[in-house]
Amino acid sequence: MTAISAEPTSRAARILSRPTTINGLTVPNRIAMAPMTRAFSPGGVPGADVASYYSRRAAAGVGLIVTEGTYVGHDSAGQSDSIPRFHGEEQLAGWAKVAEEVHAAGGTIVPQLWHIGMVREQGQPPYADAPAVGPSGLRIGADEPTGKAMTQRDLDDVIGAFAEAAAAAERIGFDGVELHGAHGYLLDQFLWEGTNRRTDSYGGDPVARTKFAAEIVAAVRETVSPDFPIIFRYSQWKQEAYRARLAETPQELEAVLAPLSAAGVDAFHASTRRYWLPEFDGSDLNLAGWTKKLTGKTTITVGSVGLDGDFLRGFAGEGSPVKGIDDLLDSLEREEFDLVAVGRALLQDPQWAAKVLDGRFEELAPYEASALATLS
Ligand SMILES: Cc1cc2nc3c(=O)[nH]c(=O)nc-3n(C[C@H](O)[C@H](O)[C@H](O)COP(=O)(O)O)c2cc1C
Repeated sequence: MTAISAEPTSRAARILSRPTTINGLTVPNRIAMAPMTRAFSPGGVPGADVASYYSRRAAAGVGLIVTEGTYVGHDSAGQSDSIPRFHGEEQLAGWAKVAEEVHAAGGTIVPQLWHIGMVREQGQPPYADAPAVGPSGLRIGADEPTGKAMTQRDLDDVIGAFAEAAAAAERIGFDGVELHGAHGYLLDQFLWEGTNRRTDSYGGDPVARTKFAAEIVAAVRETVSPDFPIIFRYSQWKQEAYRARLAETPQELEAVLAPLSAAGVDAFHASTRRYWLPEFDGSDLNLAGWTKKLTGKTTITVGSVGLDGDFLRGFAGEGSPVKGIDDLLDSLEREEFDLVAVGRALLQDPQWAAKVLDGRFEELAPYEASALATLS
């Protein structure tokens, strides 16, 4: 009989293999898959290839999968017919299969619920006639509105669409939801002063600008079971404005995060492009670290994990680079954050998590953009 050791063999395995919890959910380890739009779902329906794409990664040890952004049921939510939708009978039946297969492979999975707001180009599917909508009808970087400033009716419709999608997620077997509040899409357009020029109660100071997102969180919280996890993803940076910031100081960040926490967020996913960068002067904490310090909530970090050449050399044990795996593991051990989301490295290699957890670091290959071409 072959003896199989259940003991993690490396420091990386030992630290990354520890389970953690998000509200009522136990995540089997600290590796999450970052949400990545793939646009392989014709008619907005995720098919068998999407289910095996995610379950392959769960089988190889990804503890928590955050799906690609998927549109909530509002006509202006998206602009592609091949990006999956999280409403409609056929679409939800496809998603139910995805969740089932990921569970069968031992993973947990949450859909990332998405409304793109002013990023939408009018005339695009799935609802070609729907206008682009946002807090003030402004695209990022624009001074003149090109879309519709949302009315109270629009706000209520979108809040309802998020709540319905979350209810559907629970009904069809997902383990929680992630609300996409990052990267300059609708919720972030409210959070950021550059796109939110409203003079009603949804605009003004950071707390007022957070009101819409907090109302969505509260509506979702009310709709789903009390122990069903709600993750909120946010970022300082925006598509088309990498240097944009919601908060220049921890105090400003707290003004945004506190109302979201109070409304019922269980975990924050602090999206940065490079996880090792300190967020504010005078501390080494990154954005996820500050988020955990300010809110006490479970926190996910992300940004170039496994992409940096030094990181790979660190994994392989050749020297100890400043930005390598050891720093990341130190931060996890200090409980600065709880989970590490991996994006492109997991596109490159579906086996990435297994290789890291088994200590097979020398088998990791650098990311190449060609990994985007298929759903392998
Ligand atoms: C192809 C691709 C699609 C992405 N789509 C989304 C998305 O739908 N939602 C989201 O919040 N972030 C999205 N992102 C950002 C990733 O979730 C992640 O934050 C980013 O890639 C940094 O992580 P990485 O360096 O490990 O790739 C996407 C990134 C890539 C590369």
